[in-house]
Amino acid sequence: MELKKISKAFDILSKAYDLISYTMSLGVTIYWRKRLIDESVKLIKSETKYILDLCTGTGDIAIGIYKKSQNQNIKIIGFDASFGMLKKFIEKSPNRENLIPILGDISQMPFKNKSFDISTMSFGARSLFEGEKDFSTYLKEIHRISKRLLNLETSHPKNPIIKALYKSYLYFIIVILGSIFFPHYNREYYRTIMTFPNYERFSEILKQIGYDKVEAIPLFWGMAAIHIAYE
Ligand SMILES: C[S@@+](CC[C@H](N)C(=O)[O-])C[C@H]1O[C@@H](n2cnc3c(N)ncnc32)[C@H](O)[C@@H]1O
Repeated sequence: MELKKISKAFDILSKAYDLISYTMSLGVTIYWRKRLIDESVKLIKSETKYILDLCTGTGDIAIGIYKKSQNQNIKIIGFDASFGMLKKFIEKSPNRENLIPILGDISQMPFKNKSFDISTMSFGARSLFEGEKDFSTYLKEIHRISKRLLNLETSHPKNPIIKALYKSYLYFIIVILGSIFFPHYNREYYRTIMTFPNYERFSEILKQIGYDKVEAIPLFWGMAAIHIAYE
């Protein structure tokens, strides 16, 4: 989907995004985001000045890292293509000096090479996935500007029974219930989850684009995974 359409879809969704995301996942995505925040905070050093949260949306990861970090001088940039989502991030932000919203497209970011020790992204990668070639272009840009990427994304459980239950649940919640609450984007949302590579393939892609080491932490039988990619 082209960026204009994605940012418009998230502008419309922004007011209800948190409620839809927390309730439709029965709170599970809150726990998964918390895991990403914990893994990220572990890597913060006293000299870490900036962290970049990509596809920040309404800013849960950026705000969570800021609150958990002992380093209160740290500045966390929330980068996103949707003005509506960033507006929500600003409203939720407990500290507007340290939590900085930037509107832009990940394919061309206004940062110098390796500006960030840590970059994070949650549930954004699949918006960037329209086949592996285009996806790699985005990942190369992320690799250019940051030394480490911590990424949370949905994946595909291996166990056939869990996989069937998970897919049926997602179909019901996103395609059927979603047609009432966010009809402009529900089918596309479901498609991005279904077509995104599994976490093993995602590890390979991250290595192919230049990261030396990639660790994958599967969550809930592989329904999602956190990848930590670094040099
Ligand atoms: C599903 S939301 C995830 C928000 C948040 N990180 C979370 O955990 O809920 C995906 C976000 O990615 C943003 N996005 C999609 N493509 C983008 C791009 N090319 N550049 C910047 N942001 C993009 C959308 O605007 C949207 O806010």
